[in-house]
Amino acid sequence: MDERIITNHELKEDTFEGTIRPDSIDEYIGQTDVKDNLSIFIKAANMREEPLDHVLLYGPPGLGKTTLAYIIANELGHNIKTTSGPAIEKSGDLAAILSTLEPGDVLFIDEIHRIPRYIEEILYSAMEDFTLDIIVGNDASSRNIRIDLPPFTLVGATTRVGDLTGPLRDRFGIIDKLNFYTVDELKQIVLRTSRVMDAETTEEAAIELAKRSRGTPRIANRLFRRVRDFALVQGNGIIDANITKHALDKLKVDEYGLDDTDYNLLMAIIQRFNGGPVGIDALASSIGEEVSTIEDMYEPYLLQNGFLKRSSRGRIVTDKTYKYLGIEK
Ligand SMILES: Nc1ncnc2c1ncn2[C@@H]1O[C@H](COP(=O)(O)OP(=O)(O)OP(=O)(O)O)[C@@H](O)[C@H]1O
Ligand SMILES: [Mg+2]
Repeated sequence: MDERIITNHELKEDTFEGTIRPDSIDEYIGQTDVKDNLSIFIKAANMREEPLDHVLLYGPPGLGKTTLAYIIANELGHNIKTTSGPAIEKSGDLAAILSTLEPGDVLFIDEIHRIPRYIEEILYSAMEDFTLDIIVGNDASSRNIRIDLPPFTLVGATTRVGDLTGPLRDRFGIIDKLNFYTVDELKQIVLRTSRVMDAETTEEAAIELAKRSRGTPRIANRLFRRVRDFALVQGNGIIDANITKHALDKLKVDEYGLDDTDYNLLMAIIQRFNGGPVGIDALASSIGEEVSTIEDMYEPYLLQNGFLKRSSRGRIVTDKTYKYLGIEK
């Protein structure tokens, strides 16, 4: 796992995240379409006193999937039980957590694309009919048992929706994609965090942080905490534009939110592959990274911001990239 300050993956230092998570839908900033629709579905479910349809949330790391899962449970007025794809190794693991659910509860499965296939099949009937069909015992004495489950809502989260099987995807009534946040939304998130953490922050500083956070609240909050340290030690404690720029420069996050790793990736495409197109495997081995790391962590933001394009023959850098790197085409 990389330790870039601007990685969108959760780092150890992010354990504070729990304390600054918004817990109602009104406090959840941005993702307006997703929020508006979800609010209606939640209200309708509450009025009918029925569980909410199963919800699938997908999108790059750090955009607020887990946060939204907790908010859904809160707004439904029910408990949330959480697990993750990799944690469910045997059918018994799934049965164990399902058997703790009360009617109307939310079961949150993070990284749902990583559930083993045969367990996924058990999940189908649990989602559809609220029944659990499992085989107990070993070969000679094995038998099928069926357990009735209380009606519940499954909220699944994934960064890789393409890895989900069709049958599983089809069993979600509500499927929402979370998008990168705008600078204005990230500014609001930074200002909200500054209030929760009681750290005076100017609007200009919040905008500067927002611009360099790769559209990702997790990164905005992490950078905010680091800038707060600079403000305390090298400034007067107030987080203003000057100390923010100084701190972010020290942290080697440039005005586009790009760092050395992005720089190396873009440079490699230009210098070793003539600007592309280059296949993802060749690119990955050339910069010594995993294909999945490039696909999940580096690329989405570079693609979104026009530093990179994807074609059927591979990745290509753009005119914007040449300009950014100061290289003649
Ligand atoms: N819409 C939002 N408004 C305010 N804060 C947010 C919002 N979305 C995310 N955050 C903040 O960003 C942090 C990361 O969000 P979260 O853990 O929900 O991301 P995630 O999509 O589940 O990431 P992963 O894919 O790594 O599991 C949270 O601690 C939360 O404080
Ligand atoms: Mg999460």
